[in-house]
Amino acid sequence: MAEGRTGQGSLWGGRFGAAPAAAMAQLSKSTHFDWALAPYDIRQGTAHANALLRAGLLDEPTHAALTAGLEQVAAEVDSGQLQPAEADEDVHGALERRLIEIVGQDVGGRLRAGRSRNDQVATDLRLLLLDVSNAVTAELVDLCGALLTQAERHHADPAPGFTHLQHAQPVTLGHEIGKHVQPFLRDLSRLRDWQQRTSVSPMGAGALAGNGLGLDPVATAADLGFSRSFENSIDAVVDRDFVAEFLFITAMIGVHLSRLGEEICLWATSEFGWVYLHDEFSTGSSIMPQKKNPDSAELARGKSGRLIGDLVSVLTMLKGLPFAYNRDLQEDKEPVFDAIATLRLVLPAMTGTVATLRFRPEVAGAGTADGHSLATELADWLVRQGMPFRQAHEVSGRAVKAADEAGVQLWEVDLPAVDPALTPRAVEALSVDAALAARGHPGGTAPESVARQLKQAREALEQYR
Ligand code: ARG
Repeated sequence: MAEGRTGQGSLWGGRFGAAPAAAMAQLSKSTHFDWALAPYDIRQGTAHANALLRAGLLDEPTHAALTAGLEQVAAEVDSGQLQPAEADEDVHGALERRLIEIVGQDVGGRLRAGRSRNDQVATDLRLLLLDVSNAVTAELVDLCGALLTQAERHHADPAPGFTHLQHAQPVTLGHEIGKHVQPFLRDLSRLRDWQQRTSVSPMGAGALAGNGLGLDPVATAADLGFSRSFENSIDAVVDRDFVAEFLFITAMIGVHLSRLGEEICLWATSEFGWVYLHDEFSTGSSIMPQKKNPDSAELARGKSGRLIGDLVSVLTMLKGLPFAYNRDLQEDKEPVFDAIATLRLVLPAMTGTVATLRFRPEVAGAGTADGHSLATELADWLVRQGMPFRQAHEVSGRAVKAADEAGVQLWEVDLPAVDPALTPRAVEALSVDAALAARGHPGGTAPESVARQLKQAREALEQYR
């Protein structure tokens, strides 16, 4: 090789006497996953060409030739015509190889001045994740919309509320469904503030020390649409907080989806019978002809493990890493791409599952007062008559015991016989409607309060559209 050993598709070689062994090349290679960065690498290359022009390191015709070449490479990536070659080490090497094929060595070989794959890859990944975060935001908004529609439909229908999976206190079905919107609203707000923190350009940091060619990082940051440029060039090339934080958000969304999924599975059991799953969002059995399984909800629950694993992979890779760039950092990409692919499979399926659920409020509501779930109302009634709660709790507990022993409901117990403070009027407290109506405060479960919550959630959602 007349020009030294810099190979096709790799970006180094001059100081080497031998090409990498096959095992080394296989280990080093990343094109099978980092190809996803190609459009962003080209965008960043164009901004870098502009920086070289501004610094007087390219003349106008060379800059124009480079830009046109990059446009052609972009079109070829977009159409799928350009694919990584066997000898390409990574996406950066592959794109330079193709650029040089198009514009020639003299023009194409100039683009890399003042730039390192270290600032390059950090920039590409930020650009990609910022784009993806918009898509995830839109999908979360859709899911919240589906949950809100169901919740609005059932905002006044009573249902049992649970703690420890035991009947606790009456709530409305709309309140139960609406509770799932709040975690996703927090995820949306996490994504938004992550976007602000992530909008920092590493370009111009070079390998670690900055660039010695007079390239202005601030101008390149603006060119690429970032809010600002890096503060410290060493940090700029190794900061992967934005990857870890993004993976925390996707893991958190996964956990929220898993809890929604678990609840749908429970609601769809014969024992609960609160919902019918739509045929389009359930699956059958290979042996039991009658089966209709909540697989979308189960997969949402199951895939959360993967999303958590992706976060743990990256945090573990980052822990104790020396400064500045180390090749370990290449291991940031597969977990984050896996998290994106996983989440973007689950979200639309969950939205469809939720949107097509048919709730059975008559079934959900029938057992609302079972398990003596109105016992707190009785204690609260005594408190309103002036009794200390500690004593009221005890009295109401004795009424529950009496009901259990007689095998009757709380309101069928001879209340004055339990305690003289329980006058016959106490029975007025023992209705589901009264229990709901007593909780009309903001965030409470009274139907009008739930209606207000759902309206506010709809308004909150609007800002993410
Ligand atoms: N494929 C590498 C990565 O993903 C690109 C950066 C390589 N830098 C280097 N100094 N070898 O991190």
